[in-house]
Order: sequence, then C-alpha cells, then structure tokens
Amino acid sequence: MKKIWLLLLPIALFVIAYLAKPKSTAPTQPAASHSSHSLSLKCANCVEEYIFEVIQKGSNIFHYPSGPMPAHTVSTQEAKKIAAYLTTLQGLEPSHPEWVQEGKVLFYGNCVGCHSNGGRGKPGYFPDLTRRPLLGIQKLRSQH
Ligand code: HEC
Repeated sequence: MKKIWLLLLPIALFVIAYLAKPKSTAPTQPAASHSSHSLSLKCANCVEEYIFEVIQKGSNIFHYPSGPMPAHTVSTQEAKKIAAYLTTLQGLEPSHPEWVQEGKVLFYGNCVGCHSNGGRGKPGYFPDLTRRPLLGIQKLRSQH
C-alpha cells in the first residue's frame, strides 16, 4: 500500500505542475514546494539531485515542441544510477562513482532516443545534457 503512494504522489505532483504551468510564468512552481530545488542548488550534489528529480518527476519548463520530459520511465534505483552517469557529463564527481558504468548502459537503453548519443540532445527539441550548467539549473538559479 505504501509503495503505491510512493508511485502515485510524484505522478500527481507532475500532473498538477503540468496543468498549472502554462497559465503563468511566475516562479511559483507547484512541484517545487515538495522538492528541494531551492536548497539543493546550494549543496554539493545539487546537479545530481536535479537530474534525479527530472528523471523521477519529468519536466516541462521549456515547452519544447517535442513535448515534456516524461516522468517515471525508469525505476528509482535506475534513476539514481543514470543521474550518477549524467553527473560525470557535467565534469563532476557523483555520490556513487560505482553506479556510473551501469547508469551509462541504462541511459543508452532508456534516454538516448531523445537525448542522443552522449546526451548531446537536439537543439530546440531535446536539451543537451552535457551543457554546463544544465538549462534547468540555470533557470532555477536565476529565480533564487
Ligand atoms: C520523449 C523524449 C524524452 C525521453 C525519452 C527522455 N527525455 Fe529527458 N528531456 C526531454 C525534454 C523534452 C526535456 C526538456 C523538458 C522541459 O521542458 O523541462 C528533457 C529534459 C531532461 C533533463 C533536464 C535538462 C536540463 O538542461 O535542465 C534531464 C536531466 C533529462 N531530460 C534526462 C533524461 C533521462 C536520464 C532520460 C532517460 C531516463 C530522459 N531524459 C528521457 C525529453 C526526453
């Protein structure tokens, strides 16, 4: 029973965020009240956390014509491993370096269709995950 809630809550938050977003460009993101974005940007593993949250909750802050980044395409554990791999693309040391290799394999299995080889993305459609800082982080920083 508990597990079901763990799965449903982020989905609900994502839906709420998705529905509320297009109406205003104000920095009040409904999902942010439950996330640690504003705090996490100051902590050492902020980049890894941001990536993990995007994978878990999805994201639609840029309104690309290609649609939003889908939530929950992988398990929580897989998301952590992929986040570790993507953190290395930012030139940073992930919290669990032993996850990087598996994370890379998972990235190529689940994400490469949109984010392309090496996470380089497609301009105007899918963000470049090697960009420093990541677009979403830059946007969050400009709001705080
Ligand atoms: C259906 C295409 C699609 C798939 C599959 C996909 N993404 Fe995305 N991703 C997007 C789009 C579109 C965005 C931009 C979302 C926005 O507007 O906020 C994005 C954003 C991101 C971001 C934030 C980038 C930034 O610059 O802030 C990360 C990190 C990310 N994706 C990682 C992943 C990972 C990891 C996977 C695999 C588990 C994945 N994505 C699968 C389309 C996709």
